Amino acid sequence: MNLLYGLAFISLISISTAQDVPEYGQCGGIGYTGSTTCAAGNTCVVLNDYYSQCLPGASSSSISSTSTTSSGTTTTTTSTSPTATVSGFVKTSGMHFTLDDKPFTLVGANAYWVGLMNYDIADMNTAFADIAATGATAVRTLGFNEVTTPDGVAYYQSWNGSTPTINFGANGLENFDNVVAAAKAHGLRLLVTLTNNWSDYGGMDVYVNQLLGQGSPHDYFYTNATVIAAYKNYVKTFVTRYLNEPGILAWELANEPRCLGSTSATSGTCTVSTISNWAADISAFIKSIDTNHLVAIGDEGFFNDPGNPIYVYQGSLGIDFNANLNISTLDFGTFHLYPESWGEADSPGSFGSQYITDHATAMIASNKPVIMEEFGVTIANQNDTYAGWYSTILSTDLTGDLIWQAGSDLTNGPTPNDGYAIYPGSDVYVLDTQHAAALKVRDGSS
Ligand SMILES: *[C@@H]1O[C@H](CO)[C@@H](O)[C@H](O)[C@H]1NC(C)=O
Ligand SMILES: *[C@@H]1O[C@H](CO)[C@@H](O)[C@H](O)[C@H]1NC(C)=O
Ligand SMILES: *[C@@H]1O[C@H](CO)[C@@H](O)[C@H](O)[C@H]1NC(C)=O
Ligand SMILES: *[C@@H]1O[C@H](CO)[C@@H](O)[C@H](O)[C@H]1NC(C)=O
Ligand SMILES: *[C@@H]1O[C@H](CO)[C@@H](O)[C@H](O)[C@H]1NC(C)=O
Repeated sequence: MNLLYGLAFISLISISTAQDVPEYGQCGGIGYTGSTTCAAGNTCVVLNDYYSQCLPGASSSSISSTSTTSSGTTTTTTSTSPTATVSGFVKTSGMHFTLDDKPFTLVGANAYWVGLMNYDIADMNTAFADIAATGATAVRTLGFNEVTTPDGVAYYQSWNGSTPTINFGANGLENFDNVVAAAKAHGLRLLVTLTNNWSDYGGMDVYVNQLLGQGSPHDYFYTNATVIAAYKNYVKTFVTRYLNEPGILAWELANEPRCLGSTSATSGTCTVSTISNWAADISAFIKSIDTNHLVAIGDEGFFNDPGNPIYVYQGSLGIDFNANLNISTLDFGTFHLYPESWGEADSPGSFGSQYITDHATAMIASNKPVIMEEFGVTIANQNDTYAGWYSTILSTDLTGDLIWQAGSDLTNGPTPNDGYAIYPGSDVYVLDTQHAAALKVRDGSS
């Protein structure tokens, strides 16, 4: 006992009392008034000003130093190094991701805006620092912006009639170089989406309208040879620029490809095989150029079960998740989860857990990783709904997830908020931090 008393002056780590914060519990941060002592075997790690957490041992991938928090308590600070080392390429092994043959946990957030808003490098660094502080390993963002009239913001391809010109300049691909560098400086890797089903930031409809005439069917994007050649030219230029870039985790063919658009015209002939054939062709094309990076679709993960009473399981939207997992040049499956937008607002929590479980079943059948790469609710209690989904991810062993979407306070104010943005210090931000740590423990990657 005397010996322990003496040791307490040197280290608190080996002493547990009823007051000690359990593993993964909160142990500090602005506004926090509870115990700052972690249970045996854990260290109180400052993740950001608002949240310190008891983590097993001490993080080996971060730089630790001692500092004093606003409550006057001395703790171990883990600051993500501004020059974090990102090397090697993420690969897959069965249902898992690997890096240098060791487990790699894919967890993080979407930040579509980071390369589109003319943010300077300091703001990019702030945004990525906020995401990295949750324990994230990956960020999904947009690697396109199709414009017909350049208006000063960052854009990657401009169209004059049927002629596209890729923008290599400071507000074009050089801007994206800065995005990649800032992500890497915070130990993050990017999943980069190369066009959009939606007309936000141009996307598919710009190709179709400029090449085939205004009002041409949306789904000609997937079938018209002229359009496919133009898209492949863009993809080839973008992908080739980053062939040897470890800061890229994966290429994604499109954000949320679907046959139908509610406003744009459709041919009436698009089916699930239209998009599957397109995904097979484009993914094989990328693999023929780039053998370093993973490739996925970026779709919502709909099932093709005609007659199923649930809209997103009927196949009518043009996506067959199981068929797409069979495509050999696609390395992993993606799905999105927005119960409120899909007529499931009554019980978004349980609908979402079933949707996750069904994708985990497909993951096991295909023996490929599957990630929930976008999800959100606005009406329902976000924290509790997400906590339920995270628990389903852990219980089903789903490979990973990326929340929609990250938020940061930057020089000119907060980043865009569509009702889903998670800013540092919020309940969900704290929850995400706990979730990332739990996934890493599960995967043995921390
Ligand atoms: C667009 O193309 C037309 C026809 O080739 C050309 O006259 C015009 O100058 C171009 N506009 C721009 C902004 O480059
Ligand atoms: C693509 O659309 C163009 C313009 O409408 C048309 O001339 C061409 O035949 C189409 N190609 C295919 C393969 O459908
Ligand atoms: C797909 O794009 C069309 C046209 O921009 C839009 O009307 C439709 O809502 C989009 N759907 C999805 C899921 O992106
Ligand atoms: C996927 O491939 C497996 C094995 O070849 C096959 O049994 C299954 O029917 C395929 N699934 C779909 C939806 O095409
Ligand atoms: C958020 O959910 C987690 C997990 O259920 C819970 O521990 C935490 O207390 C919740 N936070 C708030 C503010 O309700």
